[in-house]
Amino acid sequence: MFSQYRIHPALLLLLYCLLCSAGGEVVRLQELEGNTVTIHTGLTEAQSDAHILWFYGPENAEIKIVNSESFEGKIITNYYSQIFRDSLQLNRTSGSLTIRNISREDSGVYKLQIITGISLDWNYSVDVYAPVLKPVIRNQAEKRSVSLRESCSPLCSVENGKDVSLSWYEERERISSISSSDSSERLYLPLNKTNPDCSTYTCVAANPVSTQTTQLNITNICIKTVCEDAELNYAEVKTKPHGSNEAHEVNRAGGTEVQDQTEPVVYSPIRT
Ligand SMILES: *[C@@H]1O[C@H](CO)[C@@H](O)[C@H](O)[C@H]1NC(C)=O
Ligand SMILES: *[C@@H]1O[C@H](CO)[C@@H](O)[C@H](O)[C@H]1NC(C)=O
Ligand SMILES: *[C@@H]1O[C@H](CO)[C@@H](O)[C@H](O)[C@H]1NC(C)=O
Ligand SMILES: *[C@@H]1O[C@H](CO)[C@@H](O)[C@H](O)[C@H]1NC(C)=O
Ligand SMILES: *[C@@H]1O[C@H](CO)[C@@H](O)[C@H](O)[C@H]1NC(C)=O
Repeated sequence: MFSQYRIHPALLLLLYCLLCSAGGEVVRLQELEGNTVTIHTGLTEAQSDAHILWFYGPENAEIKIVNSESFEGKIITNYYSQIFRDSLQLNRTSGSLTIRNISREDSGVYKLQIITGISLDWNYSVDVYAPVLKPVIRNQAEKRSVSLRESCSPLCSVENGKDVSLSWYEERERISSISSSDSSERLYLPLNKTNPDCSTYTCVAANPVSTQTTQLNITNICIKTVCEDAELNYAEVKTKPHGSNEAHEVNRAGGTEVQDQTEPVVYSPIRT
């Protein structure tokens, strides 16, 4: 067995680092799911016979996930892989922990404990994010009966998720932004410009680890939709067979029938 009380340079380093993080500050990591993530300790050389433990928990680091200790001169490292599916790797030199193919469920608090006569610990907060999806731009006025001039109201939206924000940029300047802590609600952000045709507008969805952009193509969103709106403002109210000699009537909705005999469909403006 090793002496519990000799002063090793690595222990001095541990003490030094404990003092420099005396504020009890937690190191925060933000990672993209699927990546291989290493929780770096900043230690360069832990004592070779140190007892090294890692704990994890969604809120508090309570579950032991790695236990590496010296036993009769041999290092025995156990991984508790029912939680991490054989994806953990401890570096005994630095104490760093590598997590392969990290998932969102691996978010939480990780605690490193190194015991070399005395026990020291460090806490790490890890947030794992899915990549944000590409925002979609539609014309908000599409389903409304509005005048053609008002009908171009670009509306950007994206599926929400943890820490997702949605923003409009005019050239390089951010002009509006939205986010919501309710991840189940899709995020919507109108452009809110009366003449969105002269500048370049870009809708940007972002979370701390990824960004997706969609540029507004005014030709796609507005001109085409104006044509659709013109059609959508009328509803079919009456049909009659081709070649019918029946006298035309004024329909009850107040619209007038098309005079052309070959045109059997009658349209009426929608009342809103
Ligand atoms: C790490 O967190 C635990 C609670 O989970 C706390 O008891 C401990 O003091 C913390 N350690 C440091 C170095 O902040
Ligand atoms: C373990 O950590 C040490 C110190 O940071 C580093 O030099 C070494 O390359 C690491 N070993 C592996 C297998 O990553
Ligand atoms: C990564 O993990 C996910 C589940 O979280 C799994 O579906 C996928 O196959 C894994 N990929 C690799 C390369 O192991
Ligand atoms: C749109 O812009 C006008 C004028 O700048 C402002 O009064 C209005 O609140 C804005 N609406 C939204 C939804 O941002
Ligand atoms: C905008 O959309 C139109 C019609 O789909 C297309 O012809 C044009 O190339 C697009 N412009 C840009 C800048 O993508």
